[in-house]
Order: sequence, then structure tokens, then C-alpha cells
Amino acid sequence: MSTATVLDLGSGRAELRLPSGPLPALADLRELLAAAFAAPDLQCVAAYVAVDAWEVRHLLHAAGFSGDGMLRDWLPGPDGGRSDAWVGTLLREDPLEPPHPWLVVPELEAGGLVLRPWRESDVPRIVEGCADAETQRWLGQVPSPYTPDAARTWLRQTAERLAAGTGMNWAVVDPADEQGPDRALGSVGWFDLTEGVDCEVGYWTHPDARGRRVAARATEAVVAYAFDTLGVRRVRAFAAVGNTASRRVIEACGFELYGVERLGAWTRAGHVDMALYDRMAASEPDATS
Ligand SMILES: CC(C)(COP(=O)(O)OP(=O)(O)OC[C@H]1O[C@@H](n2cnc3c(N)ncnc32)[C@H](O)[C@@H]1OP(=O)(O)O)[C@@H](O)C(=O)NCCC(=O)NCCS
Repeated sequence: MSTATVLDLGSGRAELRLPSGPLPALADLRELLAAAFAAPDLQCVAAYVAVDAWEVRHLLHAAGFSGDGMLRDWLPGPDGGRSDAWVGTLLREDPLEPPHPWLVVPELEAGGLVLRPWRESDVPRIVEGCADAETQRWLGQVPSPYTPDAARTWLRQTAERLAAGTGMNWAVVDPADEQGPDRALGSVGWFDLTEGVDCEVGYWTHPDARGRRVAARATEAVVAYAFDTLGVRRVRAFAAVGNTASRRVIEACGFELYGVERLGAWTRAGHVDMALYDRMAASEPDATS
């Protein structure tokens, strides 16, 4: 048994302290938490873990903890610095089971391309793709200037979405790419999953990969994943009305225009009208019949 402890803080609160060495086994951790809740007045156990301590966070998730936000500079960090803390809480009534799925990015085939998980070594390609003028123009929320730190922040956000079960992003690669079969050509993903019924897809491609259906092939594969694996009934895709290349991608993937949201798209030049598209699962009844 490890030296994990539950420290009574009084007033129905306790803090889980984990050893700095090897982590406890999940079964042992559950046993420790169940024993702590044998105290009739204990309502909540909190845990503070370095945000990038993914193995520890995964263990706590498996034991039933929910992520309840971040505390900036909360923990002593490496080299005498400070580290942000992920805050997990477990309430008396919570089962000692994962509160939602922790997603893992599968490798997908996409019309001769491959969708794979992102890696730290992709940072230079992400910087080039996101610092590009067209990406900057159409994706107004992308940081400007786009630095390696911005790419690392984005990678961490994508990892957070996996941990929260709310979205998934892939790097697109071409195994036949003479400049490197593992070189990221772009990004594609789904997000904003609503009640398991629908989700949105989004993408960008590196400027040296544009115009050869990288975005269309990758998006088609993600749409198939959304229908077949997530089980959604509808997929949404949005583009600024003037973003012709993106609208061509959306239309090539079989989406139908259902409206225009005035000032719905945030571009670098400000808010502009947004074209709204969706595509229904093949099993959905046709609304027009
Ligand atoms: C939109 C984007 C992802 C398209 O990537 P891509 O890999 O070149 O896309 P594809 O090759 O699959 O398809 C592009 C389609 O748009 C057309 N296209 C490309 N650039 C175009 C342009 N400037 N004007 C008009 N059409 C254009 C292509 O001819 C192709 O149409 P086709 O299939 O009918 O021939 C890419 O241009 C990009 O990253 N743009 C900046 C970021 C962005 O806008 N993301 C989407 C936000 S909603």
C-alpha cells in the first residue's frame, strides 16, 4: 500500500495527498477513499495536482474525481518556480468511477492520408500553419503573433478536451509525403458535443499542403467517426461567408447550408456573417419527405 493519505480539514472537507514516488493502485486508492467516507460528516475530498501530471490526473479521474478548474501558481514547480494546479473533487454521493469517458485519439485512415494524435514535436508545423496569413485572417481567435508557446498552449487545450471528454483533434499526415511521412499537414477535429446528439467539426491546413483535398479527406474521416463511433445524429460545420476555400471543403463533404448567422464569425478583420451547414446521419429521416 502506498502512502496516499486523506487529510481531514474539518467542516466536512478533506484533501487527498499522494506520494511523490510511485502512484497507488486504483483499487487501493478507491479503498482509501471509501474508508475516508466512512466518516459520516465528510462531504468532499479535494486534490490539487500539477496540470501536466497526466498520469496522476488519469488515476484520480478513474477513481471518480471531477475536474473543477485550475489554480494558477498553486504548487511548487520545477527549478524553484510555480506550477498551476488542476483541482479535482470527489463528493460523498459520487461513485468511485470515472464521471465521463477520458478520450484517447485513435489513428484513422482518410482517403490515403492518416489522422494521428498530435505530439510536442509538431510544434514548428503548428506555428507555421497558424501564423499563416489565411489562417490568421479567418480564425480570429488564433493568437497573433503565433509563437511556439501558443502552439504548446493549444496542444495542452486539446489534451484538456480529451480528459474532459469534450473534443478530439488529429494531426493529418500523408504516408507518401516525400518530405516526411509523419509531417503534419494540418489539423482536423470535432468539438462542442451537445447531449450526444450533435457536434461541430473544424480544421486548418499548412499552407504547403493546401489545394490537394487534405482538408476535405480529413474532414470526411472525422464526420464518419462522429456518426459511427460517437453516435451523433448531426454534424455542424461553419465558415465565414467569404471563406470560399473552407466552404468548398464543407460542401465537398456533403454538408447542406441551413442558414447564415449575421456577424457570427470572428475573423481578424472583425465579425462577419457566418454560413451554417449541417449533415445528418444516414439513418436520420429526411425532413423533406
Ligand atoms: C480552408 C482550408 C482548410 C482548405 O484546405 P485545403 O486542404 O486546401 O482544402 P481542400 O484542398 O480539401 O479543398 C479546398 C477547396 O477549396 C478550393 N479553394 C482553395 N483555395 C481557394 C480560394 N482561395 N478560393 C476559392 N477556392 C479555393 C479548392 O479548389 C478546393 O475546391 P474543390 O475541391 O472544389 O477543387 C485552408 O485553406 C486553410 O487552412 N485556410 C485557413 C484556415 C481556415 O479557414 N480554416 C477553416 C475555418 S472555417
